[in-house]
Amino acid sequence: MREIYRQLIHICTIVGARPQFIKASAISRVINEKYPGKIRESILHTGQHYDFSMSELFFKELGIPQPVKHGECGGGTQAEQTSAMLLFCEKMLLELKPDLVLVYGDTNSTMAAALVASKLHIPIAHIEAGLRSYDRQMPEEVNRLLTDHLSSLLYVPVQSGLDCLEKEGLRPGHAGKPNPLKPQVVLCGDVMLDSALHFASVSGGVLSEYGLQENKYLLCTIHRPSNADEPKRLFKIFDELKALASKLDKKPVLPLHPRTLKVLGEEGLDYMQKQGLQVIPAQGYLSMLQLEKNAFMILTDSGGVQKEAFFFQKPCVILRDTSEWTEILSSGWAVLAGDAELRVCEKALHLLQHMPEEHPAIFGDGRAAESIVAHIFQSFQ
Ligand code: UD1
Ligand code: UDP
Repeated sequence: MREIYRQLIHICTIVGARPQFIKASAISRVINEKYPGKIRESILHTGQHYDFSMSELFFKELGIPQPVKHGECGGGTQAEQTSAMLLFCEKMLLELKPDLVLVYGDTNSTMAAALVASKLHIPIAHIEAGLRSYDRQMPEEVNRLLTDHLSSLLYVPVQSGLDCLEKEGLRPGHAGKPNPLKPQVVLCGDVMLDSALHFASVSGGVLSEYGLQENKYLLCTIHRPSNADEPKRLFKIFDELKALASKLDKKPVLPLHPRTLKVLGEEGLDYMQKQGLQVIPAQGYLSMLQLEKNAFMILTDSGGVQKEAFFFQKPCVILRDTSEWTEILSSGWAVLAGDAELRVCEKALHLLQHMPEEHPAIFGDGRAAESIVAHIFQSFQ
């Protein structure tokens, strides 16, 4: 029977930061396994994250196809970084001429790619659309807002994302070819759950490498500017972490993001060591999943890590005063502890005494990538 496919659909995926590699791996796997000869994917890497352990390691471990080009746009101020990305994305999109640009989440790479694609009249698909913290001080909030309003295909991971978009006049209803004037809003589950389920059983030696035992440590990550760029606040978090660890008789372990590492410097690292906090390098994804799965509790200001804490049914203290992932908060599995008072220890202990019995399926069934790629494919037919 004659194939009725319009043509090979060319998707250009633009990524740049650690969590985007993890999200993109789920989509690339589906494209390669289920759509050969139907969808072609070219990956552009803006270079926002550039250390081996923040970038290349993820491509290797997760089997992500190599980018066609790296932009070397990492570091600098918001404007320096974003403007380098704009130039890089424009040059590359003019060369590649894709049918669709695919972006993830809320980083500067996401927003720069969306802005350029929009001005070149290339439709945009946004995975992880609809999230809002309503905190405009966060660069991510600005990036999300702009990207959502420029996109033609908005893939929303959770119900609350649909509600946020509806308030901004973006609601389900449209269908057909991607068109920014008729944006399609689709609730599809979270590709990070797909990735976590796919890779969580890959075992590794990370616990023995760092002398850790199952359920005997608290896992903590910190990288948000509101924490990481404020040394006084960072040290207050460390003091709270030390107090919590001693009350629970657990070891605090911190895989450090390079941003936080740079702010701390030698002096900060010495202080942490004296406080009994175990600092380890930023981890690859497979090791990180093992660290999360075996932790007693997770404390984090990361969006991705708070979700993974939920996936693995770990109590989680969010070191921020807002979260986009409101369903996690209302499920009772996590608590906010990032206000000015920073009563991390007290809130963590309270959470442990009030853990919920239910674990609702907030993030879908682990097959978000399949439904997203199927929807993209359909929309071009
Ligand atoms: C970025 C995203 C944030 C996301 C995070 C994931 C924006 C505005 N922020 O924050 O939403 O949660 O990635 O990790 O897009 N650095 C290195 N090596 C690297 C990468 C960064 O040394 O490989 C250092 C540099 O000094 C750099 C600083 O970290 O200036 C901050 O990096 P940047 O990518 O600007 O922001 P993140 O804090 O990583
Ligand atoms: N992650 C990792 N190694 C680490 C810390 C985090 O692989 O040392 C993973 C983590 O498992 C999650 C993602 O990175 O999948 C979260 O990214 P990050 O915290 O950098 O950014 P955010 O999600 O806050 O944007």
